[in-house]
Amino acid sequence: MPEFQAPKGVPEYFPPRSSAFLTVREALAFPAQHAGYGYIELPVFEDTALFVRGVGESTDVVSKEMYTFTDRGDRSLSLRPEGTAGVIRSIVENRLDKGTLPVKLWYAGPFFRAERPQHGRYRQLQQVGIEAVGGDDPALDAEVITLADEAYRRLGLRQYRLDLTSLGCAQCRPAYREVLTNFLAQLDLDEPTRARAALNPLRVLDDKRPEVHDQLGDAPLMVDHLCAECRDHYDSVRGFLRDARVQWQEAPRLVRGLDYYTRTTFEFTHELLGAQSGIGGGGRYDGLMESVGGDALSGIGFGLGTDRTLLACEAEGLDVGAGPRVDVFVVPISDAARHVSVGLLAELREAGIRADMAYGGRGLKGSMKAADKSGAPRVVIIGEDEVAAQNVQVKDMQQGSQQAMTREEVVGELRRSIMEESQ
Ligand code: HAM
Repeated sequence: MPEFQAPKGVPEYFPPRSSAFLTVREALAFPAQHAGYGYIELPVFEDTALFVRGVGESTDVVSKEMYTFTDRGDRSLSLRPEGTAGVIRSIVENRLDKGTLPVKLWYAGPFFRAERPQHGRYRQLQQVGIEAVGGDDPALDAEVITLADEAYRRLGLRQYRLDLTSLGCAQCRPAYREVLTNFLAQLDLDEPTRARAALNPLRVLDDKRPEVHDQLGDAPLMVDHLCAECRDHYDSVRGFLRDARVQWQEAPRLVRGLDYYTRTTFEFTHELLGAQSGIGGGGRYDGLMESVGGDALSGIGFGLGTDRTLLACEAEGLDVGAGPRVDVFVVPISDAARHVSVGLLAELREAGIRADMAYGGRGLKGSMKAADKSGAPRVVIIGEDEVAAQNVQVKDMQQGSQQAMTREEVVGELRRSIMEESQ
């Protein structure tokens, strides 16, 4: 056992799997970038009160899972458990909402939740997220959902599902909450569940334990208690999703672990991931900005789990990020050849060709082994003869054939053949 190990529940990505991780992260962010969302780089830690107020004191994420510490100036800070509260704080602080609305932003990076680690549930988790703030147009809800769906589809994922519902608003939810509370009061529930119901009755709806679940068959549902505005809004969102050809499933019992959601709320789950099947989720949060001291602007966004999306790709057997790490591998077999190789390597890379070389003066056999391991389809071999003749040998690793090229022409030739192959 090595003396130091990564903290418990923290996944690391190193080659070759890290290339799949990067591919997934890029694919998750691509549709939003393509749709004109601007990038925001957020602090990894923030004022603890921002999360308490923004995400909600009663949520597990805030009450049980935050990494909170006091800094040297006696301030209470927390590692960010999610990205939405920070984005909203930044919009208010930097007055980003004073220009054209909606403000559309995307972000990516690590988030921290002290959960019990298991397959797909980590203490440092990676997300790609977007937030569209300052608009309650239902077409914007559909855009956000469509961008997530497009990201998964671009990766080639098939075995996932979109669950959708509306959680109502500040007008209709309190009345529904009361109806639900009265319903729950008649059930046979243990003390911890009653306490949970008192804190947030909606969360009891999500209880999977049979002794609770079996009593919830007739539970009143939010979707049946929406006010006229929320109902219209939800109907429009679904209409726009149909226009965008996105498929979903009605999920009237969908409960999310964060308190800020209002109206449209959604979750993507993957059927091969077992208990931790949520690969992404999001929704509207119409009261959030006001609750952290900003104007009363509404917003909607998502957070897509990069770690779990990678697991989903692997579970579906998708070859994301596969392929050689370089296009060309240079093998020098004399001291003079090493000088030629270093020059050639710089030229290749400048020409946009991914290239590496054999270091350590390992001789032809050892260097060819390294070339083979690199997976490069072409290997440039330079020995004493080649240095004297100012040429190189280019070996095609698939066909095993070898061809001499002049030092002058080799970069152009390699570039041409790599471009031809990629077309
Ligand atoms: P969330 O549902 O808490 O939403 O997290 C989004 C995604 O992050 C999840 O669907 C899951 O894929 C991944 N995730 C969460 N916790 C873990 C974990 N412990 N291990 C691995 N992956 C995890 C949010 O965070 C909201 N901020 C999303 C949002 C943005 N809503 C509106 N705007």
